[in-house]
Amino acid sequence: MLEYLSIEGGQKLKGSVSISGAKNAALPLLAASLLSKNTISLSNVPNVVDVKTLLKLLENLGATQSFQNRSVKIDTTTVSSACANYDIVRKMRASILTLGPLLARFGHCEVSMPGGCAIGQRPIDLHLKALEQMGAVIELKQGYVVAKAPDGLKGTTIIFDKVTVTGSENILMAAALAHGVTKLVNVAKEPEVVQLCELLRDAGVSIDGIGTANLTIVGSYGELLDMKDIEVIPDRIEAGTYLCAGAITNSKITITDVIPKHLESITLKLQQMGFGFEIGEKSITILPAEKMKASDIETSEYPGFPTDVQAQFMALCTQVDGTSIIDERLFENRFMHVSELARMGANIKLKGHSATVEGDTKLICADVMATDLRASSALILAALVAQGTTKIHRIYHLDRGYEDLEGKFSALGAKIERLEE
Ligand code: EPZ
Repeated sequence: MLEYLSIEGGQKLKGSVSISGAKNAALPLLAASLLSKNTISLSNVPNVVDVKTLLKLLENLGATQSFQNRSVKIDTTTVSSACANYDIVRKMRASILTLGPLLARFGHCEVSMPGGCAIGQRPIDLHLKALEQMGAVIELKQGYVVAKAPDGLKGTTIIFDKVTVTGSENILMAAALAHGVTKLVNVAKEPEVVQLCELLRDAGVSIDGIGTANLTIVGSYGELLDMKDIEVIPDRIEAGTYLCAGAITNSKITITDVIPKHLESITLKLQQMGFGFEIGEKSITILPAEKMKASDIETSEYPGFPTDVQAQFMALCTQVDGTSIIDERLFENRFMHVSELARMGANIKLKGHSATVEGDTKLICADVMATDLRASSALILAALVAQGTTKIHRIYHLDRGYEDLEGKFSALGAKIERLEE
């Protein structure tokens, strides 16, 4: 049964909300469990659909797992298949994260090509090119990446042409089991990549340069790793979304269980827009602005402003004083939310990868449709300040990445309900 969210706008928010573990950290850590010779436990795992999809894929390959109280126990020693099939991969692009570890462990694998998605073409050429440089022979057959490295992957120097998050993660995992030393240049510095490095390091892999764009990894010559239990880092994108909810309603709210450093580009931008902050060790309180000001935004790789909160800031920019220009530098088509926001009265002009957002706009309720995960959260934010009751359809996109969304928003005082179509 399809569900939708019904949100009555105009409520101030108050109180605090606990941020879940990061989906985009949990996914590579789970994929890395394929490299482990023992059962591992991950705590603070968000209970979201993407995590369940990857667990299903790993189970399909032969792993045994349990997921209870935000804790995953996974044993991949029983994995016998190296084929990630279309039925599961098509549900989630991040399934491509199994490519590096499967190839490194088995010397061959077949992983369905993820295909396009709502935010653009999203190629995986950089993942494939890097594996080829490590000695893999790769063919594309009937929608599958068929990869072989019968004598194991070989350490080498790889310079990524572009900074790619899952690309860096895939090659890191491959390098951990490779023969010899791999040098990676222009690696993504996202906290999720850093946590994957830490998991591998704690399993005995020597990795130099963690947190920088240059990593040197000494491979284990095919030997599986002795992995330790790990707690998933907080979700900086979920955190950014709730900060935007505080901002758009100009309310004082607190987010807890976060790493404030990971959120610096977001809090700095909100500060420029007029909001105040009280920053604790693991919490951030946003304070209402006297005047909400326009600000230009350009998305970039970490530590720059994340593309994953671009849509949420666009909703916010409709409510500030003045015009903001938002430049999307990572994905060519990540403006699907613009036409839905326009249905609520937003005045946004698109030109190439740039959006000009008029502030001080009166938003009015409408039936709107979620198109991708973060675009959908922008619609929730707009609905919080729109006049009347907005209905957001196709919320399965939101369930992929936001845990207990309506529970968390209700606790902050929003009038939000999940209903059946
Ligand atoms: C990760 O996607 C995230 N997904 C995305 O989160 C996030 O938006 C993105 O990084 C950017 O931060 C996960 O971590 C699971 P990229 P990823 O490879 O790794 C180009 C969310 O809502 N590129 O860093 O797929 C690419 O087209 C999402 O949670 C190539 O050209 O993104 C893009 O322009 C969605 N060739 C740029 O690089 C390649 O082989 C960065 O993409 C790979 C990427």
